[in-house]
Amino acid sequence: MNVSLLAPDRVELNDREEFRDAVLAGLSHSPRAIPAKFLYDARGSELFDAICELPEYYLTRTETGILKDCAPELARLAGPGCALVEFGSGSSVKTRLLLDAMPDLVAYVPIDISRHHLDATAARLRRDYPRLRVEPVCADYMALEALPIDLKGADVNGAPRLGFFPGSTIGNLEPQDATSFLRRARTLLGDRGAMVLGVDLRKDPKRLNDAYNDSAGVTAAFTLNLLRRMNRELGATFDTARFAHDAFYDPVEGRIEIYFRSLAAQSVTVSGRTFTFAEGERVHTEYSYKYDDAGIAALARSAGFTIDRTWTDPDRLFAVVYLEAAAP
Ligand code: AVJ
Repeated sequence: MNVSLLAPDRVELNDREEFRDAVLAGLSHSPRAIPAKFLYDARGSELFDAICELPEYYLTRTETGILKDCAPELARLAGPGCALVEFGSGSSVKTRLLLDAMPDLVAYVPIDISRHHLDATAARLRRDYPRLRVEPVCADYMALEALPIDLKGADVNGAPRLGFFPGSTIGNLEPQDATSFLRRARTLLGDRGAMVLGVDLRKDPKRLNDAYNDSAGVTAAFTLNLLRRMNRELGATFDTARFAHDAFYDPVEGRIEIYFRSLAAQSVTVSGRTFTFAEGERVHTEYSYKYDDAGIAALARSAGFTIDRTWTDPDRLFAVVYLEAAAP
């Protein structure tokens, strides 16, 4: 369903039901897990923005630095007159680096699940880039089969599409899902399409563990906000003092795993159903996969892309890759 066709209150009702169903299913499942996307309610999004400013969380800062440096070359690779399509645009901060380097874009198409974020972002960009055509799409980009937009003029429809998926958001996906997402992006971007992808790299485990266990406790608050959200939206009875944020790097899988962990044997009611937790029992909330060069190459190839260019920072913490659609 095209979410943008629903009235705002209907969207909220749908969201609430989707959240409840996912939570009840996830707590009934063994092992317990709740999909990461539910971390991003209004408060969760604020907390994530705060994470991006943390001294330990090098990802945002490092990627922004790389994008600043590579934007001119990236613009040359993409060529003039393409349409920029961003998957999960949020507040489009990094996008501005590309917009500044690509003054002749035919359109900017931000795709985001949050109507609120999308409208606010579109308004700000139209103000700051008066000549830019902004065509927001309110949708879950993970579920998007084709661009559900009428781009009207053939100028836009015929333009080569450049995808943008920064922030190592791809790391939230398990490898199979990452491949199928990228494959759908490949279809959606077309045979002349390209994609700019931000990927966090494998590195010293201490550096990774610190990034997800910051000393100010913001990441813990981000995880535990999910409990608050369940209390608020689903009438759940989580006592956040009796759960803890639990995040660690698994070097074999090459991923950070994040959970909330019960500090005592306890039961909790969610939407009228009771769930018991053993002391130490965990509920999975996120993976954050870290890639090496071979992993990125395998991912790109499996999704029908070739790597045209890779940019990294001097410490090789993070990579921005430019993928081109492989011949079909
Ligand atoms: C938004 C998925 C890239 O995995 O680093 C940060 C989310 N969670 N700290 C990440 C996150 C806890 C973030 N991504």
